[in-house]
Amino acid sequence: MGIDEVAGSGYFLYHSIGMYPGKAEQAAQALAGVATLWGTPDDEQWNRSLAIRNEFVDRWRRLVDAPAGTLTTAENVTAAAHAVMGALPDRHLRGRKVLIAADCFPSLHFLLAGMAQRRGYELVTVPVRAGEHWVRDEDFLAHWQADVGVALITWVTSTTSHRCDLKSLVQHGRAMGSVVGVDITQGVGIVPFAVPEFAADFVVSSTLKWLCGVSGAGILHVRQPLLGECRPELRGWFSQENIFSWALDSFAYARDARRFDSGTPSILPFAACLPALEWIGGQDPMDLLAHNRRLVEVLVDGCGALGLEIVSPRRADERGGSLMCRLPAASDPAALVDTLRKQSLFADCRGHTLRLSPGNMTTDDGVARLLRALRAAL
Ligand SMILES: Cc1ncc(COP(=O)(O)O)c(C=O)c1O
Repeated sequence: MGIDEVAGSGYFLYHSIGMYPGKAEQAAQALAGVATLWGTPDDEQWNRSLAIRNEFVDRWRRLVDAPAGTLTTAENVTAAAHAVMGALPDRHLRGRKVLIAADCFPSLHFLLAGMAQRRGYELVTVPVRAGEHWVRDEDFLAHWQADVGVALITWVTSTTSHRCDLKSLVQHGRAMGSVVGVDITQGVGIVPFAVPEFAADFVVSSTLKWLCGVSGAGILHVRQPLLGECRPELRGWFSQENIFSWALDSFAYARDARRFDSGTPSILPFAACLPALEWIGGQDPMDLLAHNRRLVEVLVDGCGALGLEIVSPRRADERGGSLMCRLPAASDPAALVDTLRKQSLFADCRGHTLRLSPGNMTTDDGVARLLRALRAAL
């Protein structure tokens, strides 16, 4: 890094892993605290560990304004979606359609395709129109009739940062009698999201991206009354109202989202994410968004001037926090990312799509350096 470059100024990977000032030190301190707790021969471990996990859930609850008892942790987004799909009553799945868009996060498509036969549903994938870059809301709606038992909506996509009109989609799902799930992973932490505003039946996400956490800290929200109908396949002592109810013939699911828990929960990822959630909680969400929007607009102009095709929506209210553009067919994306890295500029490519996500640490100077580096490299 050049002597006058501010750390993080050229970081454009918030769609992958988010950063905030002091993240390394604060996560290290939190993890050291857990190591001390678990290495001390007393009986404090579980009281304090479960308090850490509860605080993580509570921070998330406040972040997305979810009702108490409707959130629990998951290892990742795919696992959170699996938990719900495995728990749904048969009437939502057997003989029904499950709807998803082709520009969903592929892991969720792999999951739903793999469960289709066993749970007896047909997976319908709404395509991207020829020559276009994301699935249009109108096309998703056109596939969505009353035979759709479950629809999984990607709020903001990872390939173009297209943000759907979530309110209209959820309302349509309600009219069709479908269970509506939303993956908010690419939006939460940069575009304000509140559970009551959209009232989807379930929400899945992770803390890793714009929320600046670490991996292993996924989240699942399930709304009532669906929550009360869910019978999670993966169940265990922690799925119960009273985890110490150990009589073999009297298992009973917890009334709240804890029914999605199973055995002894992990603690470390939640401990490592707490400082990030505290940091985010202390920011004005509108400031974070305004900073992102301003830098993305500079990128739109700069990439346009370089002749790169923008494959994200032009309108800010149809976008998450990223800007994607198409590199020339003759260019070598991996070599470009290497060249950028050598200049402390961090971005990534999916095929020939360059993904640029400026966040709280990215600066105007970082954007200017990136555009100069792209001009020189291309
Ligand atoms: C839209 C979206 N959903 C989900 C994920 C991650 O899913 P998982 O935590 O299962 O790896 C990503 C990661 O990039 C994503 O962009």
